[in-house]
Amino acid sequence: MDVSKLLAGRTAYMRSSEIRELLKWVTADVISFGGGMPDPSTFPTEDIAKITAYVLETYGGKALQYGPTDGVPELKEELAKFAESNGIKASSDNIIVTVGSQEALELLGRLFLDESSVVITENPTYIAALQSWRVYRPRLVGIPMDDHGMRTDVLEEQVKRLRAEGAKIKFIYTVPTAQNPTGVTLPDERRRHLLEVAERYDLLVVEDDPYGYFIFDNTVVTRLKAMDKSGRVIYLSTASKIFSPGLRLGWVIAEPEIIRWFALGKQALNLNTPTLNQYMLAEGLRRGVIQRNIPNIVSLYKRKRDAMLAALETYMPKGVAWTRPSGGMFIWVRVPEKIDTKEMLQDAVTKYKVAYVPGHGFFVDENPPRNTMRLNFTYSSFEQIDEGIRRLANAIKERI
Ligand SMILES: Cc1ncc(COP(=O)(O)O)c(C=O)c1O
Repeated sequence: MDVSKLLAGRTAYMRSSEIRELLKWVTADVISFGGGMPDPSTFPTEDIAKITAYVLETYGGKALQYGPTDGVPELKEELAKFAESNGIKASSDNIIVTVGSQEALELLGRLFLDESSVVITENPTYIAALQSWRVYRPRLVGIPMDDHGMRTDVLEEQVKRLRAEGAKIKFIYTVPTAQNPTGVTLPDERRRHLLEVAERYDLLVVEDDPYGYFIFDNTVVTRLKAMDKSGRVIYLSTASKIFSPGLRLGWVIAEPEIIRWFALGKQALNLNTPTLNQYMLAEGLRRGVIQRNIPNIVSLYKRKRDAMLAALETYMPKGVAWTRPSGGMFIWVRVPEKIDTKEMLQDAVTKYKVAYVPGHGFFVDENPPRNTMRLNFTYSSFEQIDEGIRRLANAIKERI
């Protein structure tokens, strides 16, 4: 049967992620810098086993039952304390627990976007946010970046211009710390500028913060939400990189009115985030498992970043440039313009046995730059990092 005739018009705007597409070529002998996966050694497996037994013993049927749409109260209380330790003041009324941050991104689309909407993002930006939102047909306006993140001077000009046109700007979306895909971090001065612009033009800001826990160098960052004086920042974070991505747990911190809208949207999606997993995260936070784990993850990922930077320095030919991330999980690479990284990928995977994500899909542009790629440095072992970058350099050299 030909299902395509029956599909809704909006499916035309559903694009498969490049990251998921490339997985079909990745075999066991391929070194993958593709997905944004944590090093599995950072999962506190033994603690999670103990916590699961404890939760089932303590909460029994309650942990296996449906739960409130906005999250179990025990977790929301722990999340409020955790947020406070990261400089953000919040109470349970400001929090909703989601199925990873991905669900929060989807809910943002459902709640705020339609064809007349404008969303302002960093350019490039997180591919799966674009995937969620494109279905709602907003106009996506990308702000260029440099080594210090979003160019807030350009942001200000763009907002002014869009306002003069009468555009309905719904929010500014930013991953200000150790951005996905570039790895760069917005300094506090630019954070203040971004908020000033939002204040002046009365705009909402979405701060997506999976990586704020992983700052390797002496950079000090203040979350935008911690600087937010007028309740205009919608803050997203996740347990994926500090506990386990398989548990699919994220949360939103925002004004109670916004949280109520998220809850209404979520009711139709999945009623509630898995209850057992929420109790597990609550207990992980209460016992300090996560807080103790973070410094170990930071130390491991810093060494892995350094290993990848060193390998890039050793093997890459002239004409290849890359970012030096002060945190997070990714390095962004620019190869000579004549190389199309999407075109090169099949060869890289099948002949050179190394995978990466071509940069094209991270841009909001119809015709994005074709010579960029994102490399993940957290998942592979130290040996794989060195060998994988050597292979990648050979794939690039063949095309120069
Ligand atoms: C910027 C950003 N936002 C959101 C997510 C989604 O994470 P999750 O749904 O696992 O919480 C990720 C994951 O890589 C990310 O990098």
